[in-house]
Amino acid sequence: MSFSSNFYWGGATAANQCEGAYNTDGRGLARTDVTTAGSYNKMRTVTYKMPDGTTGEVNGFGFDMPEGAKGAILDGYYYPNHESIDFYHHYKEDIALFAEMGFKMFRMSISWSRIFPNGDEEKPNQKGLDFYRSVFEELRKYNIEPLVTISHFDTPLYLEENYNGWNNRKMIDFYVHYVETIFNEYKDLVKYWLTFNEINNTVMFLDMFGSKASDKVYQEAYQQLHYQYVASAKAVKIGHKINSEFMIGCMICGITNYPMTCDPKDVMLTRYKWEQGIFYSGDVQCKGKYPTFAKRLWNEHNVKLDITDEDLNDLKEGTVDMYTFSYYSSSIVTTHKVENNASGNFSMGTKNPYLKYSDWGWSTDALGLRYYLETIYDRYELPLMVVENGLGAVDKVEEDGSIHDPYRIEYMKEHIKEMSKAIDNGVDLIAYTTWGCIDLVSAGTGQMSKRYGFIYVDKDDEGKGSLKRLKKDSFYWYKQVIESNGENLEMEVK
Ligand code: BG6
Repeated sequence: MSFSSNFYWGGATAANQCEGAYNTDGRGLARTDVTTAGSYNKMRTVTYKMPDGTTGEVNGFGFDMPEGAKGAILDGYYYPNHESIDFYHHYKEDIALFAEMGFKMFRMSISWSRIFPNGDEEKPNQKGLDFYRSVFEELRKYNIEPLVTISHFDTPLYLEENYNGWNNRKMIDFYVHYVETIFNEYKDLVKYWLTFNEINNTVMFLDMFGSKASDKVYQEAYQQLHYQYVASAKAVKIGHKINSEFMIGCMICGITNYPMTCDPKDVMLTRYKWEQGIFYSGDVQCKGKYPTFAKRLWNEHNVKLDITDEDLNDLKEGTVDMYTFSYYSSSIVTTHKVENNASGNFSMGTKNPYLKYSDWGWSTDALGLRYYLETIYDRYELPLMVVENGLGAVDKVEEDGSIHDPYRIEYMKEHIKEMSKAIDNGVDLIAYTTWGCIDLVSAGTGQMSKRYGFIYVDKDDEGKGSLKRLKKDSFYWYKQVIESNGENLEMEVK
């Protein structure tokens, strides 16, 4: 048996992508609430209002907001995260379905602006606290262990607009106050915490979109990251004081990079990609200090960081207890000119001829997951969790309400096989929570039609649908996987 008897099988979500109820019970806005729907080849946009009342929209990352603009909900636009799949009102039904599959763990996030609507208040919003208490209690009823992401792409919009977000050192204090509040509130209900979702995205994706970002963009990105590392380290220290049993992890967007050729230049560039995109964040959060290659990265873009001695001490004392990551696909790296680019949103650059690609242009590479697991375990020797993995695909509901999704089963089956081999090779992997275990709004495109779930939700890309939940074939398959503790992957589904 590769998987230990207490292995955490489960699924993962994020508040802004599933809860809906964006303005219910005192919740404040997050950037996702002013972000429209995109598609396979159209980027999501952020809509805004200027002080003089004129309005407009900019690409979803909001890099190019005009001076003085404030994110605004405008007539004539559709904002998919406002209702999403309304987990806020369906959580009992959804958790019962997770329990039916046999989940041992459920990864979810707390919406910061439900607890602190603006982000800089002293007193939390009681209704927000009550909501998550009910969710955690419901999970405990079924012996499902919550795994809670503290910040998953939804910093309160007020903080971004009035304090310039993570460019401002003050954000550390706001985050720490939020973290202390939820740690104290849920210390007996939640043991596993993740400080920031895919913290490394801030720098990893800078040069993945083709256009060369300016030194100013790099300067801001590295500075924001530094403040987040310090905030994360402080959270770890505080968490351990509040409950010494807490296990607090980093969460890294995991992409396995390969050189396209054996040209030493490709091999070197690949190593640099690993360093910049993956190891930079992991090293700071797991080893408690900046790696030696940080100097090279900063020098490349004339980055000068505001780092104090106290920060360095916090980083040292606030190292994480576990390394967690998302893994969907791999990427190839080359210094050579290539025609063959993978298309689709967040495409991973050059297309790898040995791999299959999803309808959204993401490669499927199960072996890449083992490569990643073994590389990372070797580097940090900390317990690992795969906290996101899965295939975004279009599903068809048959007349009788069944949904046949063999492509999703195939994808996960291959990834589970590689996880099991990694465990056999000595990797201490303790959890697997598949992404979007129930269909939810895609972060990248804002679509519902990019579905990851075992549970189908009747809702389309225009916001129409009954929100009814239906079980896909993969629902029964995953139940079987969990029941057999990862041994029976070949089950004939209905
Ligand atoms: C991860 C994020 O990057 O990928 C999730 O943590 C996201 O929030 C997931 O949903 C899948 O990406 P997408 O764009 O298909 O939703």
